Amino acid sequence: MNTFNIHYYIVFIILSITVQIQSQICEKTAQYGQCSTNNACGCFHILGADDGAGICGFLWPICSRLVPCNSSDNSCLQSNTICVQHPQCDDRPLCYPVTMMKENICPPMIININSKWKQNAITIAGGNGQGSELNQLNQPYGMYVDNDDQCIYIADGGNHRIVRWEFDAANGQIVAGGNGMGSAINQLNYPMDAILDREKKHLIICDYGNMRVVRWSRQNSQDQQILIPFIGCWGLAMDNNGDLYISDMERHQVRRWQEGDREGTIVAGGNGQGNQFNQLSNPTYIFVDEYYSIYVADTRNNRVMKWMKNAAEGIRIAPTQVPEENPGSMVGPTGVIVDHMGNIYVSNMGSHQITRWSPDEMEGAPVVGKKEDGSGSTQLSYSYDLSFDRYGNLYVVDTENNRIQKFIINLD
Ligand SMILES: *[C@@H]1O[C@H](CO)[C@@H](O)[C@H](O)[C@H]1NC(C)=O
Repeated sequence: MNTFNIHYYIVFIILSITVQIQSQICEKTAQYGQCSTNNACGCFHILGADDGAGICGFLWPICSRLVPCNSSDNSCLQSNTICVQHPQCDDRPLCYPVTMMKENICPPMIININSKWKQNAITIAGGNGQGSELNQLNQPYGMYVDNDDQCIYIADGGNHRIVRWEFDAANGQIVAGGNGMGSAINQLNYPMDAILDREKKHLIICDYGNMRVVRWSRQNSQDQQILIPFIGCWGLAMDNNGDLYISDMERHQVRRWQEGDREGTIVAGGNGQGNQFNQLSNPTYIFVDEYYSIYVADTRNNRVMKWMKNAAEGIRIAPTQVPEENPGSMVGPTGVIVDHMGNIYVSNMGSHQITRWSPDEMEGAPVVGKKEDGSGSTQLSYSYDLSFDRYGNLYVVDTENNRIQKFIINLD
């Protein structure tokens, strides 16, 4: 069998196992890595599967009850067992009972209607005061979570640099800028956002103070280029085709930009600053969904707008009630993300809180943050960008506290 066939053979095995036992596969996850809302579950790698693929199961079965797989073909004689790696018990692969891999024991980490987040956050980057050391941040605003590499990229605005911070690391590493504030091609000036392109070969950066979008190669530290000049770039998003969306804080619009475009296409706003449904006022962070709808934190208008593909005007999706009847329901929205059920999560710098707006509810519900300015683990101080990881944990850029906060998803 060549590599290609082996790959498909393994995928076939994993799929048939999954169907058979109604358990979930884990991909690109470390051996014993987090794969469930139940912390007592972890990823058990399957022999020969690449990219850290395996099955999510209970971490603590009694080792002596697990028998080694048949060493010639890694099969398991006992019924309802499958062959997995479990080096904490034995160097040889072991036959593991599938009953301990079912979804009722190890629920998948996806957001559902009952999802709540632990109110005490873990600081995963910064939190060591405002400064320019590698364990510090200085007015971070935008962020990008890289699920495959288990790290985040942070637009560290006041340090004029982009830092890459691995989960669990004490320090970040500078991956763009860090050469002082300036407009040379290797410098940044208050970068506000950064994302990776689809191939993860380049960082795309909103170099806000220089009014440009720049692209930095991840491989070659000498390779930088200006993608788009003369744009008040604040927030970036990418759709599943690899098209780039850019919010322009100065011209109150969002543009879509395809590789090779000179100007791009206006996809939200573009009718001057204002509060009509075809206008925006100082848009900040944006989100694009699988239907190419764009969600905009329309900051100065205290609202979140949704612009469907090719729409001439937007829909106000939050707050859902007329602001006159419900003043103060949204104060300075700066970030917006959407889950797979269509719930909208909004970061509000004015109320230091993240709120959720469900399609069939009139009021926003608090998610995290205490509606007060502070630096405790349950508090935020001027939150900006926000993001989920693939498990549904929530990350918030806590700008004035110079830190990134992780709120763990919690189903119980
Ligand atoms: C192990 O697998 C081989 C090949 O399929 C088979 O011939 C052998 O009988 C198996 N051994 C046991 C103990 O089941």
